[in-house]
Amino acid sequence: MAGSDGRLICPSAAVIEGGDGVRFSVTHDGATHSAFAIRYRDQVHAYLNRCAHRGVELDWVPGRFFDRDGRYLICATHGALYEPGSGRCAGGPCGGGLVKLAVIEKNSGIYLVAAGSSDEREQR
Ligand code: FES
Repeated sequence: MAGSDGRLICPSAAVIEGGDGVRFSVTHDGATHSAFAIRYRDQVHAYLNRCAHRGVELDWVPGRFFDRDGRYLICATHGALYEPGSGRCAGGPCGGGLVKLAVIEKNSGIYLVAAGSSDEREQR
């Protein structure tokens, strides 16, 4: 049970260090958006799945957000790079950063914290 900590996105074990991310849906600013969670340096981070360049989803292959070296998050469309821990633009045509979502990890689960948001793990 998430209690006041938010809604469960997925089990902790589903988000592997530097591996594929877990996609989920979130209500943000009154609309439903695609979002994702990744693990980087043993911390879970979550972002709207929306490139700052053209507003498209980052992953062509669902869940594939890291670049080949596992150093940056990469947009598959034009190659914008984002810092995994902050979502800040690290190269390419970002022109901004990713929208970060508040998550916590506890009791072997990853929870969305953002007030007023709802989530639903996407089935692919
Ligand atoms: S749409 Fe992401 S880099 Fe252009």
